[in-house]
Amino acid sequence: MKKPKWVMESLESYNLMNKISITPLFAKMVYFSILEDLDLTKINKLVKKIGFTKAGEKNDRDVANIVNMSLDTHILNNKSFKFLKKIIEKEFNTYKNNVLQYHNTDFKITTSWIVKSEPDQASNYHNHSNCMYSGILYLTTPTNCGGISFLNYFDKETIKIIPTQYNLHNSTEFTFNPTAKTICFFPADIHHKILPNHSKEARLSLAFNLFPSGQLGRNGSDSFVNVKVGEYEKA
Ligand SMILES: [Fe+2]
Repeated sequence: MKKPKWVMESLESYNLMNKISITPLFAKMVYFSILEDLDLTKINKLVKKIGFTKAGEKNDRDVANIVNMSLDTHILNNKSFKFLKKIIEKEFNTYKNNVLQYHNTDFKITTSWIVKSEPDQASNYHNHSNCMYSGILYLTTPTNCGGISFLNYFDKETIKIIPTQYNLHNSTEFTFNPTAKTICFFPADIHHKILPNHSKEARLSLAFNLFPSGQLGRNGSDSFVNVKVGEYEKA
């Protein structure tokens, strides 16, 4: 029998591999793609003009040297960034239509901000509220500037078993080291953190949140709702 396509390479040694298939039911999906044609010089020029503040809540518990975020939390709404908003929306639409098959539902980018991680800075594990999906576009990624780590927050390790080899089926934490021009989408409830920047330069990325807009659910059902996601207005 032919090996099913989705079987992980690391499970090759399992001698029944040709006779079984393993399906990670209801798995959390993290999307990665590289935007080859992105004009990073233009974007990084715009980012140079931006003001920053410390990211996260004031009660950070386990990271002393937390990363910086732009004071503007709607950066993609600025005229100069509109071209980038379009590129990101196009990429997300490809994902939500082709993979998730959400052809009839639009998503709006709600908040968007630049994250600057200076040498030795990192972030806490956190997730994003008031959105369904989140995304990151990597802008400047010096070697060893720190990747992103995702955590299965719901695995309380009530019974902790140490596998001989970690893989997609037995891990509670995943780390990725994206390079500049990489774009990533993930469900907003997943806990994630920025790993310490061990380079001598700043690491820059653009983060954003997305919310579904329009008619959600089956019309006539008790969960039907018509959501209008408006443009942000300063208070
Ligand atoms: Fe985040």
